Amino acid sequence: MPIGVFDSGIGGLTVFKALASQFKDTDIYYLGDTARVPYGNKSKETIIRYSLECATFLKENFDVDLLVVACNTASSYAVETLKKYLNIPVVGVIEPGVEAAVAITKNKKVGVVGTQATIRSQRYKNLLEENDIDVFDKPCPLFVPLIEEGRLSGQITQLIIKDYLDELVDAGIDTLILGCTHYPLLKDEIQKIYPHIHIVDSTTTIGKFILSNKKNLKESGKRKIFITDESPSFELLKDILAPNIPVEKVELSKICSL
Ligand code: DGL
Repeated sequence: MPIGVFDSGIGGLTVFKALASQFKDTDIYYLGDTARVPYGNKSKETIIRYSLECATFLKENFDVDLLVVACNTASSYAVETLKKYLNIPVVGVIEPGVEAAVAITKNKKVGVVGTQATIRSQRYKNLLEENDIDVFDKPCPLFVPLIEEGRLSGQITQLIIKDYLDELVDAGIDTLILGCTHYPLLKDEIQKIYPHIHIVDSTTTIGKFILSNKKNLKESGKRKIFITDESPSFELLKDILAPNIPVEKVELSKICSL
C-alpha cells in the first residue's frame, strides 16, 4: 500500500521530491491543501482539523499504510491525533530534524526557524532541550511568501535572511534547523551567507523514519499530486520540484468532512 504525504500547500513538495527519489518503487500520493494555506498563522484547533481532513482523504482514497506529515506546522500539533484516528504509522518532520541536529551540533547551540505556529508550539524547543541543547528559535513569516513569489535568491532575499538569522548566528549557533517545508528552497542562499553553519532540513532526515515504519517498499512507483486550489505559486514551485508528476484538483468540499 502507498505512502500518503500532505502539506498545507506546496512546500511539502520538497519532502515529496526527496521521498520520490529515495523510494523509487513505492507508490506516493501527495495532497497540498493550497486552498487553505497557510496553516502557520492558524489556531491549534484549526490546524488539527485541517490535518485530519487531509489525512482522511489520503487514507480513504488510496488506502495508504504510512502517512508523512510534510508540514512542520501540522507536525507540531496534529501527529498524535492523526495516529489515534488513522491507525497507521504517522511520521512528522519534527523528530527527524531534532535527531539530525542533535547528532550534528558540536557546541550544543541550535537555531530553529519556522512559522509562527511551529515556533509557538515549542515542539522543537522541548525535544532539543531534552537532549541538553541550548535552543535559539525564531518565527520567519516572510520566508514563505518570498519563496512562493519565486524569490529564492538575490538582494531582497539575502536582506530578509540576514534580518531574521543574524541574531541566531551572533548567539553562537553551529546548527540551524529549517523547521518549515518551504525553507529548503532557501537553503543554498542561507548557506552562502553563513557557510560555517550546519543546516538541517526535513528533506534529508525523513527517509530513515520511513524505512523503520514501512515494510513493503516494492510497489509500482506510482505518483500523483492533489491540490485543493490552483495558483501561480503552485505552478512555479511544482515546475521546480515535481515537473513530471500528474496533478489533479480536488474540491475542498470532498475533503471537509469533519
Ligand atoms: N508548510 C508549512 C510548514 O512547514 C508552511 C506554510 C504554512 O504556513 O502553511 O510549516
